Amino acid sequence: MMNHRKRDGFTSKFGAYAAVVGSAVGLGNIWRFPYMTGENGGGAFLLIYFIFVIVIGIPVVLSEFVIGRRGRGNSYASFVKLAPKSYWYLVGLMGIFSAFIILAFYTTVSGWTLHYIYLSVKDIFSATVSSSPAEIFNEFQKGTVMPLLWQFIFMIFTVLIIISGVQKGIEKSSKILMPALFLILVILSIKTISLPGAMDGLRFLFYPDFSKINSNVILDALGQAAFSLSIGMGALITYGSYIKRDNNLFKTALSVSLTDMGIAILAGVAIFPALFSFGLSPQQGPGLVFIVLPEVFQQMMWGEIFALLFFILLAIAALTSTISLLEVVVAYFSEEFKMKRRNATIFGAALAFILGIFTTLSFGPLRNAKLFEKTVFDNCDFLSTNILLPLGALFIVIFLGWFYEIDQTKDEITNQGTVRVWFFPVFVFIIRFVAPLAIFLVFLKGLGII
Ligand code: TRP
Repeated sequence: MMNHRKRDGFTSKFGAYAAVVGSAVGLGNIWRFPYMTGENGGGAFLLIYFIFVIVIGIPVVLSEFVIGRRGRGNSYASFVKLAPKSYWYLVGLMGIFSAFIILAFYTTVSGWTLHYIYLSVKDIFSATVSSSPAEIFNEFQKGTVMPLLWQFIFMIFTVLIIISGVQKGIEKSSKILMPALFLILVILSIKTISLPGAMDGLRFLFYPDFSKINSNVILDALGQAAFSLSIGMGALITYGSYIKRDNNLFKTALSVSLTDMGIAILAGVAIFPALFSFGLSPQQGPGLVFIVLPEVFQQMMWGEIFALLFFILLAIAALTSTISLLEVVVAYFSEEFKMKRRNATIFGAALAFILGIFTTLSFGPLRNAKLFEKTVFDNCDFLSTNILLPLGALFIVIFLGWFYEIDQTKDEITNQGTVRVWFFPVFVFIIRFVAPLAIFLVFLKGLGII
């Protein structure tokens, strides 16, 4: 069965880079990374996260690209193509399942960013407002209609981009949004670094205090690295299938991973100096950027403007990530069930939104509905980030390292022998031994099994 229709895809190197960076850079960098670093003691967490990105992250990004570009299909189809008559397609299906879970809780927070853009425009963070940012956040979160409405609107934005297709939707929007995001982040960092007392924040971020490290910190760092790089659930397999044959996969994997880490650190540089400068604690959990930062903005000159910039930044970061999550689902539905792209998009988004209702309300009316002492939101976050993603990454490296023919992988990475691959033996060593072992151990230890 031949498909003669040209498959949609990324048209240029920069387009592919922007799209993958768009997927990687998201709430994970700007919302999750700062609070995880804050809760896990600062510099030491950063260091472990850094090591995981280099040793596990980059090889897994490259592995997913190989599977996707070789398989030329969604995350399910690529496995079927590369390993027919086997059960490896289950890894692809698990990824599609993860996409729903992540998309659900991710759009909860994405919706908050829209509400905060609205609040910033209304000038709510100026000094004249009487309620504190914590009160504002709690009031908003407790609600039903507003958080759901914003989440819904955010989903609509995501849907509109995905309906437009890979090139006209994903690639085009990423090429505009990612440079904008970078510019805003640089402006914010320059501003906060120049605040009095900024050094304390930088010391917290960069100075490793090893007494803070335990197995939970290590599992969190692994989860954070996986989440931030969008690995382990087929997003990069799907995007990899859109990358042209003559692009250098290793260079793309490397530049994307370094950019992602760079943006997370830059976000830390924009946030921690501000916290320490105003004497606020970095240990605030998920509310960090929604409670503590507005407090900073209230006290800062031109605070309203910086608040507005910051939440626009957050929304942009979120949007280029939700599109990559929805694309995983849409590519699967449209290719496997021959659904029209438009219908697949609406259907996928609707399913994710239904689950999303529960993650959003778990801060309000469903706050006490707990399983394993965690809310719906926390369960979705934990299940996907700390379990499904590392597990997905584990299977992916085992598949490429041990089951798929290594010469085929080499052929794909070298573009059929046209680019040099000095690192190839290192890559093979990592995906065969280092990465599987590291993920396995961290995983068991973090879950308290060993
Ligand atoms: N990487 C994104 C972030 O840091 C989130 C994300 C998008 C993601 N697509 C993903 C995470 C796929 C895991 C898998 O915000």
